Amino acid sequence: MAVRRVLKMGESQLYRRADPVKAFDTPALHALVQDMFDTMVALNGAGLAAPQIGDSLRVVIFGFEANPRYPDVEPVPTTVLINPVLEPLGEEREDGWEGCLSVPGLRGQVSRYKRLRYRGFDARGIEIDRTVEGFHARVVQHECDHLDGILYPMRLADWRLLRFEETMEEPAQPD
Ligand code: NI
Repeated sequence: MAVRRVLKMGESQLYRRADPVKAFDTPALHALVQDMFDTMVALNGAGLAAPQIGDSLRVVIFGFEANPRYPDVEPVPTTVLINPVLEPLGEEREDGWEGCLSVPGLRGQVSRYKRLRYRGFDARGIEIDRTVEGFHARVVQHECDHLDGILYPMRLADWRLLRFEETMEEPAQPD
C-alpha cells in the first residue's frame, strides 16, 4: 500500500509493450492494483496504467465521481481492467482534451473513437465486457495506449493543441 513514483515522459519504461497478466487473484496483483489506486487518488488522476509506476504489465485502472482535473465530464465507474481488448464501434471519432500523470502540466487535444466495446478481467479474474462512449471511451483508449508504449502527445494531430494547463483559457488557434 503505497503512493508510487509516476514515471515521466522520456523514461524508457513508458515506451515498452507491457506483458499480459498470467495469474489472477494473487497477493502480488492485488498489491499492484492497490498501489495504483493509492497513486492515482493522491494525484487526482482519472486513470493510471501499471507501466506508469514501472510495472510492465497489462493492468489499467480508471474511474471517478467528480474530478477536479476534469470538472466538466460525466463520472466513470471505478474499474480495474486487465489484459484489455478494445473494439471501436463505428468510425466516429471525437476530439477532446487529455492530460496524463506522466506528462504533468500539459493538456493536449486528441482524436479518439467515440464508441467502444472493451473486454478484459478484474484483479480476481472475473470477466468485464462493456460498451461505452464519450469520456469513458476516451479514458479507456488513453490508459490502454500506455500498455503499448503510447503517450497521448504521440497522437496529436496539431502541435498547437498541446498546451500548458495555465494557457487553457486562451484561444486554441491564431486568427
Ligand atoms: Ni496517461
